[in-house]
Amino acid sequence: MSVSLRLSCFLLALLLLNPCSRLTAQNPVADTRVLLPVPSMAQWGTSRFVLKDHWRVQLQGPKADSALRPTLTQFGAWLGQQTNDKRLRTEFVGSGAADLTIYYGRLGQLDLLDEEMYSLRVTPMGISLSANTHLGVLRGLATLRQLLSTDKKEHMFAEVDIADSPRFKWRGLLIDAARHFMPVAVIKRNLDAMAAVKLNVLHWHLSDDQAFRVESKVLPRLHQVGGQYYTQAQVREIVRYAAQHGIRVIPEFDMPGHTTSWLAAYPELASIDSTYGPAQTWRTLNIALDPTKETTYQLIDKVLAEMTPLFPDPYFHIGGDENDGRQWRRSPRIMAWSKENGFLKANGQLDKHGLQTYFNRRILQFVTKYHKKMVGWDEILGPGLPEDAVIQSWRGRKGLYDAVKQGHAALLSNGYYLDLNYSAATYYLNDPLPADAPLTASQQGMVLGGEATMWAEFADSVIIDSRIWPRAAAVAERLWSATYVRDVPDMYRRLALVSAELETLGLQHRQAPEQLLARLAGGRDVAAVRTLAGVLEPVKEYKRHFQGFTYTPSTPLTRLVDAAPAESEAARQFGVAVDGLAEYLKMAPATERFKGASSKSLLSFLNAQLRTWQTNDQRLQPLLVQGANLWEYAPLSTQLRLISALGLERLQMLEKGTAPSAAWQAAALKQLDAAKAPAGQAELAVVGHLRKLISL
Ligand code: ACM
Repeated sequence: MSVSLRLSCFLLALLLLNPCSRLTAQNPVADTRVLLPVPSMAQWGTSRFVLKDHWRVQLQGPKADSALRPTLTQFGAWLGQQTNDKRLRTEFVGSGAADLTIYYGRLGQLDLLDEEMYSLRVTPMGISLSANTHLGVLRGLATLRQLLSTDKKEHMFAEVDIADSPRFKWRGLLIDAARHFMPVAVIKRNLDAMAAVKLNVLHWHLSDDQAFRVESKVLPRLHQVGGQYYTQAQVREIVRYAAQHGIRVIPEFDMPGHTTSWLAAYPELASIDSTYGPAQTWRTLNIALDPTKETTYQLIDKVLAEMTPLFPDPYFHIGGDENDGRQWRRSPRIMAWSKENGFLKANGQLDKHGLQTYFNRRILQFVTKYHKKMVGWDEILGPGLPEDAVIQSWRGRKGLYDAVKQGHAALLSNGYYLDLNYSAATYYLNDPLPADAPLTASQQGMVLGGEATMWAEFADSVIIDSRIWPRAAAVAERLWSATYVRDVPDMYRRLALVSAELETLGLQHRQAPEQLLARLAGGRDVAAVRTLAGVLEPVKEYKRHFQGFTYTPSTPLTRLVDAAPAESEAARQFGVAVDGLAEYLKMAPATERFKGASSKSLLSFLNAQLRTWQTNDQRLQPLLVQGANLWEYAPLSTQLRLISALGLERLQMLEKGTAPSAAWQAAALKQLDAAKAPAGQAELAVVGHLRKLISL
C-alpha cells in the first residue's frame, strides 16, 4: 500500500474514532465532495449522467453565443482527452436531445455584481446549466469539470443540483511579469487554471525597476531597455483569451517608485540626476520619478494614452507602493519646489505623503481622461485622495479597513502573498471580512474581495506554476465560498483534486519541479533527490534576499530550492499523522495502546516515513560531492537523517510504553534546533512536527 493511501486509511479511522468533532460545529457543514470552491448550495443525488460517445451541447440564449463557443469547444476537447475518446467532439445542436443544455439571458459584464450566479443540474437524463449571463455559464462549466469521474471505464458526472454565486465579486491573482518575463503561453495556462477555480481578475504587474514589459510604439525605449516584452498584439491576445474565460485583466504600471526601468529609458524623469540602468537586483530601490516636473506628467500622459486602450477593463492600477521619498528629500530642486508649493511640514521636512498624493491626483486626471478608474496599493491612501480610487491593501489588514472607512472600495492582498511561501491553510483562513471586522454593513459592502499575489523575484517562467498552484486555489475558495467553509483538512483533500485537475489543463506545477530534479540528479538516483526536495521548503517571507547569496534577474532558478515545494505535502501529511498520534495518546488508556488496527497503521506510517528520510542521506551521498550542484544541501540531508533517527527512537519508546529520559529529550531538542538552520535558502519542513513527536 502506498504511504498516502495508508495515511488516508488512517485518517478515515481517525474520523470514525472521533465523529463528534464535525457535528458540534456551529455552522452548517458543507457537503463539499469534489468541488473547490464549494458552491453556495448543493443537493447530491445517488445517480449519475454517463457520457456516451457524443457530447451534444444546446445553447439557448441570445444570438451572440459566440461568447461561449470557444470555451465550450475547449471543454469538449478536454472531455475527449480525459475519456481518451477521440470521437468525442462538441456538437452544437439547435434542438432535440442534448447532453448539456445551456440557458442564459444575456452577455455578462465582468465588473458588475450578480453576473456570475448559475444553477447546474445533473440528472441521469442530461445536464442543464442556467444563468442570467454567459459569465454564470462559465462558472458553471468549471463546476461541471470537477464533477467528472471514471469508474470501470465509464465516464460520468455525479447527480447533483447546484445553485451558486460568489461571496466576493473581485477574486484576483497578481502575476508579476516584470521581475521575470512570463511568455504568453505561461499567462494563458494560468488563466485556464484561474477559470477552473473561478478566479476572475488577472492583475498583470507589467512594469518595475527591472523592466517595462509592454511594447510602446510612442516611447519605444521604455520596452527596449528591459529585454523581453509583450507586443501590443500579444497583450490583446491575452486580454481576449482572459475575456473568453470570464476573466478581467487589470494592468499595473507601478509609479512613482519601482520605475528604474523608465529612468533607464528616459533619465530626464529622474529625481536625482544620475545614470540609470534597469535594476539588476531585487532590492527595494526607492528610486522615484520626479513629481515636480511637467515633463514627467507629459510623458506619463503619453504612456497612459497608449496603454489604456489595450486594456478594456474600467480599472487601471498605478501601483504607488514603496517610495519612501529619499530621492525627493535629497534633491535640492524638489525640496525648493515643495517649499514653494506647500509640501514642507512646519519643521521644514518634506511632506512626502502630501507630495505623492499630489502626484496621484495628477495621474488620476489622466486615468479619468482615458475613462478608467484608478487602483493603487495602500500607500496611496490619505487625505486628498479622491474617493473613487480603489485601495489594494498589502501591508496589513488595517489598510483595508481604513480605506473603506474613508469611502474607498478596497481589496485584500495582505495575507495572500504566495511568494512568501506560507501554507495553503494560512491563506485559506485569512478572511477579508471575519466576523469581528470593525466595519458597518455599508463599509463591508465596500470590500470588493481580494487578490493572491505572485511576485516573481524567485519564480521564472519555468517554475512559476508550482509557486502559484495549488495554493492559489485556497484563496479562490476563500473569496468565492461562504465564510463558514473553513475545514482545513477537507480543503487539503480537495486541493489535491484541484492539483490533479490543473495538470489535465496543462499546468506545469508538478512537471516542472520534477524536470529540475531529474536535471539535478544527472541520471543518478533521482528518487533520493526527490525525497530530500519533497521535505524542503524555500525559506519563508523575504528571507531569501538575506542569506548571503546574491541574486540578479539572470540568476538561474535551477537549484534544489527551486524544485522544493512552497508547502511540503510530505511534511504536512507527517504533521497530520503526528497530530493524530497525539490525539490518540490522549484518548487511549496506556494499557490498551497500539492494539487496534488504526493505531498500528498510524505507527507504521510514521515509522516508514522516518526510515525513508533516515536512510536517504546515504543514498544521496554520491550526489552530494563537493563542487556538484547539490553540495550546498548536504547539511540538510544530514540533519534529516539525524532528526528522523530521533523520531524513530521516540516511536519505539511509545510502543514500549517507556518514557524518554530528561537528558535524551534535552539532547533531542538541541538537535532539532540545529536542524532549523537553512542551507541553500531552503529549510527542512518537518522540524516542527518532529519536535512535537519528541515532546509527546
Ligand atoms: C508590494 O508588495 N510592494 C505591493
